[in-house]
Amino acid sequence: MCGIVAARTAEPVAPILLRALKLLEYRGYDSAGVSIRTSGGDSATTRTIDRVESLQARVGAWSGADLPGTGIGHTRWATHGAVTEQNAHPHQDCSGRLSLVHNGIIENAAALRHELEEKGHVFASEVDSEVIGHLVEEGLRHDDDLARAVTGAVAALEGSWAVVVLDGHTDRLVAAAHRSPLLVARSPRGVFAASDINAIGEWVEHFQAMRDGDVVELAEELVWSRGGLPAEQPPMADSVWTGASIGVDGHPDFMSKEIAEQPDVAARIVDRLAPHVLDGSLWADLALPRFDRVTVIGCGTSLNAGRMIGGALSSLGRVPVRTLVASEAADAVMEPRTLVLALSQSGETADLLNAIERLDLSRSSLVAITNNEHSTLARQADSVLTCDAGPEIGVAATKTFVAQVITGVAAALSALVASERMLRSDAVRHSDELRLMPELLAHAIAVSHEVLPSIVAGVLDEPGFLFLGQGTGVVLAAEGALKLKELSYRWAEHQPAGELKHGPLALVDRGTPVLVIDSGDPRIDRSIAEVDARGGRIVRIGGPGSTVPVVGLGRPAGPMAGARRWGPLEAVVPLQIFARDLALALGRDVDKPRNLAKSVTVE
Ligand code: F6R
Repeated sequence: MCGIVAARTAEPVAPILLRALKLLEYRGYDSAGVSIRTSGGDSATTRTIDRVESLQARVGAWSGADLPGTGIGHTRWATHGAVTEQNAHPHQDCSGRLSLVHNGIIENAAALRHELEEKGHVFASEVDSEVIGHLVEEGLRHDDDLARAVTGAVAALEGSWAVVVLDGHTDRLVAAAHRSPLLVARSPRGVFAASDINAIGEWVEHFQAMRDGDVVELAEELVWSRGGLPAEQPPMADSVWTGASIGVDGHPDFMSKEIAEQPDVAARIVDRLAPHVLDGSLWADLALPRFDRVTVIGCGTSLNAGRMIGGALSSLGRVPVRTLVASEAADAVMEPRTLVLALSQSGETADLLNAIERLDLSRSSLVAITNNEHSTLARQADSVLTCDAGPEIGVAATKTFVAQVITGVAAALSALVASERMLRSDAVRHSDELRLMPELLAHAIAVSHEVLPSIVAGVLDEPGFLFLGQGTGVVLAAEGALKLKELSYRWAEHQPAGELKHGPLALVDRGTPVLVIDSGDPRIDRSIAEVDARGGRIVRIGGPGSTVPVVGLGRPAGPMAGARRWGPLEAVVPLQIFARDLALALGRDVDKPRNLAKSVTVE
């Protein structure tokens, strides 16, 4: 994780770096810092274990902070070393000539540090990144060329890096990347590099994504090399700047805004995809070979979205579906003619990218379902289904979950039609249900805001929460428990309702909150009765008659949910709102929960 930015510009550089860091803060917010080359040929550095705003005041106090020039910035999610100012980036070499920012993990940092210390280098922090600066410094002792010194330094590294080094003496800026995202761009406004195009999109129209092993000098002309040899430029991509819309737009926080956006997001996707479901063209356009089975892979909320899509494929088309937790997928055996659905909001999640690299996909086809069409995942996939959810800033995924599920279910229906695994009449019914999603989500938002506040007020002191469901309701229960944990820092567990009596029922005491996703299967009543008999506090999320009647716009829950074997997707809304309301009542920062970051680019 971590976000990095670099700029060389004829405009005041400090405000550019700070603005970019604000947009990168979702990648980590343990600490932040900037280094700017001063007019005297040094670099001035400031770092904080506070949020990016607090850098503003410090940088503003520098003389010449409003000068044009060169600088780098970083926002950190701690991996190696505690959250302290010393461990914050940018890091420097011994002489103070070099400053660098790094995203990734240097696996052989301890050995390199030992070697460098033996050569007299003195380290100022505990972080792995610092070795890069000392390696570059060592290289410059023999050959005073920054690009060659960076090339030599990264050749000694094992692990992953997106790194930018600023040489205060020569005013040169060199970037290198390997298994960590870094985008570079040039425009009349200057030369820029950043972990995410949104951070610099205000100043550029096109950008290039660095490939593994690339080194590039960020000069007036970008100079590309690999292993010290000139390299071809990576392809150019268009930057569609969305920065203007990155604000809370009258909402108290991004999560609130992103929950509220879900009906519009759903409408946009349904309008775009639904017309191509019934003739199978949505699937046919992906130009993939026939498949016999499906493997769904991802992490966290994206994995849950994948499970929902997998549920649709197996229940509607009898397709064998396997689900892989990306961080546990290393030994999975891939059978021929497997369709791999890889889900990732960011498209940069290291656990997923590494799993894909380790799995033998030679006889499979890989489809990415992602909100970032320029991501590493998108570049690696045979085909890409973009989610079109717009930027999601809140760390807890909300609208991207809904977008992934609707996109994936539309593609699944289209694939089932195209491969004649589903009757057209059934496909028409499911496609109609998809078209209802915007309305169902809007209804769920309204009902949740009305009903949940009093329920939340009654459970503020509860230490643990249980979530139950059946079928895809189990996946929704998992998503509800995940949201509650990450936002409120309270324990939450999810179970298939039928499993309750096999052990978890022992957790239920008088007043224990048990949230039940009622997807219309009457067997759920037995589990509810078991909880009720022990005095548990049941919050039933389902159709009419439930505590939170959000499913199916007032129609009876049973037949509706039975028809929608991939839902009821709208039941995720009260789970999101419950977790947010509880977290806010407990004084948590819902957009930036502790210990987490939005884009998890380390294993
Ligand atoms: C939870 C959440 C995470 C992410 C997970 C995967 O609210 O956001 O569980 O879903 O880290 O991230 P992506 O989707 O970017 O691969």
